[in-house]
Amino acid sequence: MLTFHIITLFPELIEQYCSTSIIGRGVNAQAIAIKTYNPRDFCLDKYRKVDDTPYGGGAGMVLKPEPIFAALDSIVRAEKSPVLLMTPQGIPFEQKIANTLAIESDITIICGHYEGFDERIRSLASLEISIGDYVLTGGELPALTIIDAVGRLVPGVIGKSISLANESFVDGLLEAPQYTKPAVFQNMEVPEILRSGNHQLTAKWRHKEALKRTYERRPDLLNKLDLSKEDLAFIESLKQPK
Ligand code: ADE
Repeated sequence: MLTFHIITLFPELIEQYCSTSIIGRGVNAQAIAIKTYNPRDFCLDKYRKVDDTPYGGGAGMVLKPEPIFAALDSIVRAEKSPVLLMTPQGIPFEQKIANTLAIESDITIICGHYEGFDERIRSLASLEISIGDYVLTGGELPALTIIDAVGRLVPGVIGKSISLANESFVDGLLEAPQYTKPAVFQNMEVPEILRSGNHQLTAKWRHKEALKRTYERRPDLLNKLDLSKEDLAFIESLKQPK
């Protein structure tokens, strides 16, 4: 059982998403749990002020440290379990990080919001994560991205673990094309091999298509892999002018 603890000013955004579809099913099956903590509930002043003007001047408001520290303090979680801070300044999120997080029993995520957060909040994080080189209005979508990518790896969330086996990034490659019925649709035909029922040929075809896709769309991913001689030769053959 993996529990996500989310510190957010908008708990309803997290709860709505996490009660729906596959993640919602995982919650119902008690494979994962989602708990939210609103910093506003941890303010000591009577106006429940979660942000304030920046020292040194400038536009916008900055999240205050006290409510975030108090919210984190209130969380009952495994000792040394990860505390993630969502920020465009973090390390880029990728499948490998999701894989390592999926074995934890507790993951705490701090969502930033408004124009920024007090620098001292960084001291709470064991890892700062960015979901891409663009700026969002808050950390909720990034937090949901982590919950989704990590949650689906937890046993019991996705029915057949087999459906994780061939997907994009599992072996470092993009996934091969997929088809369902009908065999011909608007003159576009499903490749013969997939209809042949020959599992060995199908597996070979899929592997080659995955290599081709990755070469064509994300050649940067190939550099990270330890490819076999056959795979390297196949990629070389793709480079020949047709
Ligand atoms: N908060 C705002 N933008 C973000 C991003 N790209 N990644 C993570 N957190 C963010």
